[in-house]
Amino acid sequence: MTDNTLAFDAWIRNEFVEHNNALEALYWKQSDRANVVDVGGDIKASLVEQGNQFISQLLQEGNTDEGFDAAFDLLGNVGLFMAACRRHEITEPSRESFSPLREASALSMQIGASIGVTPRFATAHLTTHNQSINGTYKRFTDLDAEKIFVDYNTRGIFAYKRAADALLKIKSIGISHPIAADLLLVAHQALKDVYESNEVLFSALDTDAFFYQVRPYYKPYRVGQHVYRGANAGDFAGINVIDLLLGLCLANESSYSQLLVDKFLYMMPEDQQILRDCMRMTSFMDEFLSATEQQSNASWYQQHLALFLDVCDMHGRTAVQHHNQLVEKYIAKPAATMEETHLDKLTASGPPLHVLLGALEKLRDRRNAAERSDIFTRFNDIQSLRNSLV
Ligand code: HEM
Repeated sequence: MTDNTLAFDAWIRNEFVEHNNALEALYWKQSDRANVVDVGGDIKASLVEQGNQFISQLLQEGNTDEGFDAAFDLLGNVGLFMAACRRHEITEPSRESFSPLREASALSMQIGASIGVTPRFATAHLTTHNQSINGTYKRFTDLDAEKIFVDYNTRGIFAYKRAADALLKIKSIGISHPIAADLLLVAHQALKDVYESNEVLFSALDTDAFFYQVRPYYKPYRVGQHVYRGANAGDFAGINVIDLLLGLCLANESSYSQLLVDKFLYMMPEDQQILRDCMRMTSFMDEFLSATEQQSNASWYQQHLALFLDVCDMHGRTAVQHHNQLVEKYIAKPAATMEETHLDKLTASGPPLHVLLGALEKLRDRRNAAERSDIFTRFNDIQSLRNSLV
């Protein structure tokens, strides 16, 4: 890393956090806690001035080709700065047609395009690829709610990735291989870990602190001309690898593949590759269905199918928990009491809340193979596989 990169990283880890803390304290004191207009003008000015100064030097330094990791990390730091400016409404995409943070935009676009990711900060920057120094990783603030949220996002993402890795390994040995049973057990345990981690998050995270002080840093913002949607904990391949390999969601169904197409550049390049490969693979559900007629009496079929159905069940349970508990408690309910003027700026992806909730509900129901007449789910297939168990 160059001296300029290191200096900017040190600023992001220290003064940047202090500026955000100070602003959060001011917003929190108001009767309308969602308001950020005409509050803390001097702090906002110094945040922009300091951040821009580091970025200007980095832009002048030009391409130093320090490798992928350094470039990705720098993109994350510029992105944290831009996301904070958006949170404090120093920038506001509906007000502007081009980001006023011109140098930050230029640097983000240069890095994003050169390494094959979206030119903004993504979930990986805060979770799976966030270097800790002396016990502290990068964050916007040092508020407890943010630490709890990021800790449990990281834990949940790593657990989903463990489940996805185990399922992928089965592809190279075949679902009837004796060791496929071990891997299905690993996947099941990993999904149980997601469930248990989300349970702690659900009880530990303060609703108001999350809603007013954490979530606003995850809003869409403009880089150059275009608005890029906010980061969310789903921006990694593992969750979709699980959907596709289990066969609960289908890559040739347009509303699901739309979701995949839209998230590719928000993932790490290695995740993009894994997901592309998975979109071309057959699912275990289809493999069991085609084996039912001739092999349903085989012991591998009976044993592995029972384990497979347990994995599907556990995956469905984590989806119900995400939607009915986390999204409901931390987004839908507080939004219902929020002042009308702020409602249009609520979600990380940008669509109105009811549209977003409808999309998340469909995902939940696909993952549960629930009976629905308006979208395709594997309800009938799961029933017929269950019936083939003796
Ligand atoms: C997406 C809320 C924690 C996994 C989303 C979205 C919302 C949301 C609103 C849609 C994003 C958008 O605006 O476009 C929450 C809340 C959480 C939370 C309020 C906790 C307070 C987690 C955790 C995980 C997770 C811990 C586990 C890794 C996902 C996934 C998606 C997603 C995979 C993408 C959609 C999908 O494939 O289901 N979340 N989330 N979330 N979140 Fe969470």
